[in-house]
Amino acid sequence: MTLPSFNATDKVVVVTGASKGLGRAMALGFAEAGADVVVASRKIEACERVAEEIRALGRRALPLRCHVGDWNECDALIAATVAELGRIDVLVNNAGIAPVPPSLLEVTSDLFDKTIAVNLKGPLRLTALAAEHMTAGGSIINISSKASLHALPFTVVYAAAKAGLNALTKAAAAELGPRGIRVNAIVCGTFHTDSFDSGMPTEMQAQMAAGIALRRIASADEIVGTALYLASDAASYLSGELLVLDGG
Ligand SMILES: NC(=O)c1ccc[n+]([C@@H]2O[C@H](COP(=O)([O-])OP(=O)(O)OC[C@H]3O[C@@H](n4cnc5c(N)ncnc54)[C@H](OP(=O)(O)O)[C@@H]3O)[C@@H](O)[C@H]2O)c1
Repeated sequence: MTLPSFNATDKVVVVTGASKGLGRAMALGFAEAGADVVVASRKIEACERVAEEIRALGRRALPLRCHVGDWNECDALIAATVAELGRIDVLVNNAGIAPVPPSLLEVTSDLFDKTIAVNLKGPLRLTALAAEHMTAGGSIINISSKASLHALPFTVVYAAAKAGLNALTKAAAAELGPRGIRVNAIVCGTFHTDSFDSGMPTEMQAQMAAGIALRRIASADEIVGTALYLASDAASYLSGELLVLDGG
């Protein structure tokens, strides 16, 4: 048998929230694996900077502005991708926000709507639209969170949104499976990004690390290999799965 490979040569990969953090790491990881990458987020200048890094690796990059909570912008993102790059092989629904309400009672209608829009409503629309341009072998990867399985009070809306994303993953896998399109989620534990490190005091980070079997918080780069795996032939029979990546 031919051994499966993580090579993504000439695949067209759309990554949302790719201007920084995990999305940027994944966009660069897919480019290193040979893919052409659509770098999408709200801040187009930041997307353009990541696109330059991808071009320096010798791959095509298409920076596009998109607020994933706005379905018109989702439509425009997919249309521009297909117009420029011809098709879509992989969609990574990575963009996410996790605002912290002080209590259940202080969750505002606005905070609820925004959190659901970015973490759940956008991924649903993008999954539906991207799948229309995928052939058998297409892969959709949703970036979920351990909070969806072990919710804490201050994560209430975020946890509910990511739990919805888990359910979306399974339902979309069931609907798109007959067309050979796989849908999976990476249920991430905590990992370092500039946003995380600036918002989380060092002592709290140490406490969090003490509760992890590997006794450390991941780097964003350590999530990338799992995304490359899910996008590859090595995962050709894996669909509807919630892969927990949390250091044990
Ligand atoms: N960091 C962790 O410990 C952790 C743990 C579990 C799960 N996660 C999940 O992992 C994913 C990435 O997190 P991260 O820590 O890398 O986040 P981050 O560093 O805060 O980056 C978030 C990215 O999402 C983009 N974004 C935010 N709102 C958006 C919107 N409405 N439309 C389009 N793009 C938007 C941001 O770019 P713009 O500002 O340019 O839009 C940015 O590129 C998220 O889904 C998060 O929930 C993170």
